[in-house]
Amino acid sequence: MKITVVGAGAVGATCADNIARKELATELVLLDIKEGFAEGKAQDMMQTAALLGFDTRISGSTNDYSKTANSDVVVITSGLPRKPGMTREELIGTNAGIVKGVCENILKHSPNTIIIVISNPMDTMTYLALQSTGLPKNRIIGMGGTLDSARFKYQLSTTLNCSPSDLNALVVGGHGDTTMIPLIKHATWNSIPVTKFLDEAQQQTIINDTMVGGATLTKLLGTSAWYAPGAAGAALVESIVRDEKKLFTCCVSLEGEYGQSDICLGVPVVIGKNGWEKIVAMDLSADEQAAFNKSADAVRNMNDVLKTL
Ligand code: LAC
Repeated sequence: MKITVVGAGAVGATCADNIARKELATELVLLDIKEGFAEGKAQDMMQTAALLGFDTRISGSTNDYSKTANSDVVVITSGLPRKPGMTREELIGTNAGIVKGVCENILKHSPNTIIIVISNPMDTMTYLALQSTGLPKNRIIGMGGTLDSARFKYQLSTTLNCSPSDLNALVVGGHGDTTMIPLIKHATWNSIPVTKFLDEAQQQTIINDTMVGGATLTKLLGTSAWYAPGAAGAALVESIVRDEKKLFTCCVSLEGEYGQSDICLGVPVVIGKNGWEKIVAMDLSADEQAAFNKSADAVRNMNDVLKTL
């Protein structure tokens, strides 16, 4: 199993670190445009192998895509991160050019790969990856909802004072501060609805805090977060390489599912060796479906910007 992570910044390096620790690959390539940067991070990580006991061989490459040849999975993290006060959407002009170039290079050397997109604005970058690679739709996966659902569980767990891993909770829709939809009425604490324990005000606070989860961290850190984004990317890689068939919210191409087409948006999917293997239908309330449609409109407007670049 060979995995490539493009972009050796904080998110890419954290994702690679998680992949190595979980021994998801025999070979792991970290690629970056900055001279020597990926090589340095790869060597630093390799020097943890004796301490952590993993056998993955990690190597770095300065923009030489031939080193990524025949990757089974490629994670794309390239592009500028958010600065405080910035929306993910503001990154589109710069990041679209970067992600398109990365996709073309990846495809030349790994024509059958599965691509996980983390770069922002994630929904539009996933749509761009689908269009620019021409890969079958099941091989293009946007990571956003996996991260947002983990953040939702974190917010729920602090209020309920419970273990985050005892929670089932999904965020669907776009990966934007105003486009994501934490589905609190569907969330359960080991199958007991969380709404049983939370009044309306508490529910609204949890929803709001989840939606601005990334922005809150950007303000605190001065740049966008990396531990949870990197771990979310690695969790998807794990479900693919171990064919776990785990259910995550991911940004995938919709062709009529959830009432939307010609768009990539976050919905529950099964992730296995073929990429996203099926979209799982949920019964959304009228309000939830309306929020989903509004989210789709916002993402579609952003996708339209691609035509002007
Ligand atoms: C975040 C970035 C990765 O939400 O989109 O932290």
